[in-house]
Amino acid sequence: MSNLRNSYEKLLKGNQNWVEKKLKLNPKYFDELSKGQSPDYLWIGCSDSRVPDNEVTGSNPGEIFVHRNIANMVVHTDINMLSVLQYAVEVLHVKHIIVCGHYGCGGVVAAMQRSDNGLVNNWLRNIKDVIYWNKSELENISDVQQRADRLVELNVLQQVKNLAKTSIVQQAWKKHELELHGWVFDIRSGKIIELDAKFDEIEDLDPIFKYAD
Ligand code: CO
Repeated sequence: MSNLRNSYEKLLKGNQNWVEKKLKLNPKYFDELSKGQSPDYLWIGCSDSRVPDNEVTGSNPGEIFVHRNIANMVVHTDINMLSVLQYAVEVLHVKHIIVCGHYGCGGVVAAMQRSDNGLVNNWLRNIKDVIYWNKSELENISDVQQRADRLVELNVLQQVKNLAKTSIVQQAWKKHELELHGWVFDIRSGKIIELDAKFDEIEDLDPIFKYAD
């Protein structure tokens, strides 16, 4: 069998093994899973294959509603992200929204450079804005890796702020409890770092971003 075929078949075989393992532990596992979901968390993470939400948090299918894109961005014209956000908040009533970035993020590193990457430039532009707004802090960090790490953190903080600026989150705050959190997954240790990004009320926002009742 060719390598190409092998790498593909590996996943289907992996699925068979997983189903068997789950059923061995609990014969009713899929009966229960198919009943529905009521996750407490919405995870907005990077598409990077090294940051799987369930695995790094030791959680299970059914516990985390997920949206992933390059560099865990909350872009206010992104209808995909907004649809996930609206469903998670208004229908699933998640209690926590976690924006999780990670050190060694290729999207963040690319945004720090001047190379022309075509279409993706427009996505990375949102990170270039974060660089621009934090120019003096970042320029004071001489070590390139440390500067990139700090940008990963600043980018997460900005995306949490972007969530707070949506009417979806602001409406939810008026009706029920919802907390926003900013995390960084440290890919070098496996540990999650909680950033000081806790938004749980509209008062934390600049007035220009607050929607009237
Ligand atoms: Co990334």
